[in-house]
Amino acid sequence: MPDFELIPRGRKKITARGLKFPLLAKPLKEEASLGIAQASLVQNIEQLTERVRFIHEKFDNDVIAEEYIDGRELYVSLLGTTRLQMFPIRELVFGDVPPDKPKIATYKAKWDDEYRHRWGLENKFPTDLDPLIVRKIEHTCKRIYRLLMIDGYARLDLRLAPSGEIYFLEANPNPMLAADEDFAQSAAKADISFPQLIQRIIRLGLSTNRE
Ligand SMILES: Nc1ncnc2c1ncn2[C@@H]1O[C@H](COP(=O)(O)OP(=O)(O)O)[C@@H](O)[C@H]1O
Ligand SMILES: [Mg+2]
Repeated sequence: MPDFELIPRGRKKITARGLKFPLLAKPLKEEASLGIAQASLVQNIEQLTERVRFIHEKFDNDVIAEEYIDGRELYVSLLGTTRLQMFPIRELVFGDVPPDKPKIATYKAKWDDEYRHRWGLENKFPTDLDPLIVRKIEHTCKRIYRLLMIDGYARLDLRLAPSGEIYFLEANPNPMLAADEDFAQSAAKADISFPQLIQRIIRLGLSTNRE
């Protein structure tokens, strides 16, 4: 995980002790990138204070401020409980975002088609990932899945830094299941059709054997 600090509502003095800027300030308990915009990336304590106030008030949410990890954005889909299967990894490619600009899956980057088109944002199957890195990702993600006691299926969001280091951003224990979303796309790549996928999820849910 990136180093982080929690900043609860009601906190008067905002500090980021020991953290290296830039930071990404996010609502603690939101999803679908709600409350995540370019302004979430803050370069100093003044910007952090401003963004924290905004999230506290507008989203009525505590804040998690994390060190910003520059790297590739990967989505790892897993199915199972005792026996876990990892599907082929998806990547959000920031095609036309200049190299010196931050790459963040903001609310717009996820949901606004026109914005996605303008910046060349595409969800794809990367073809150039080093097999050793893929194995490391598989090992790490399965451990995280078990540590968090996830049951059935999940999508884990990661960042792969240029150094090869993997940073775990988030686990989605209830990811979007639509056929054109990353989870089902990854399953399809593993030759699991959409109806088969839904059937397997239902069967896992009904199963009593969850030791
Ligand atoms: N520490 C971080 N470093 C770099 N990018 C981040 C970081 N945290 C979040 N992001 C970006 O913001 C996106 C949304 O953050 P995430 O924690 O997954 O929240 P959500 O639940 O809204 O999806 C991520 O997919 C990623 O692009
Ligand atoms: Mg996410």
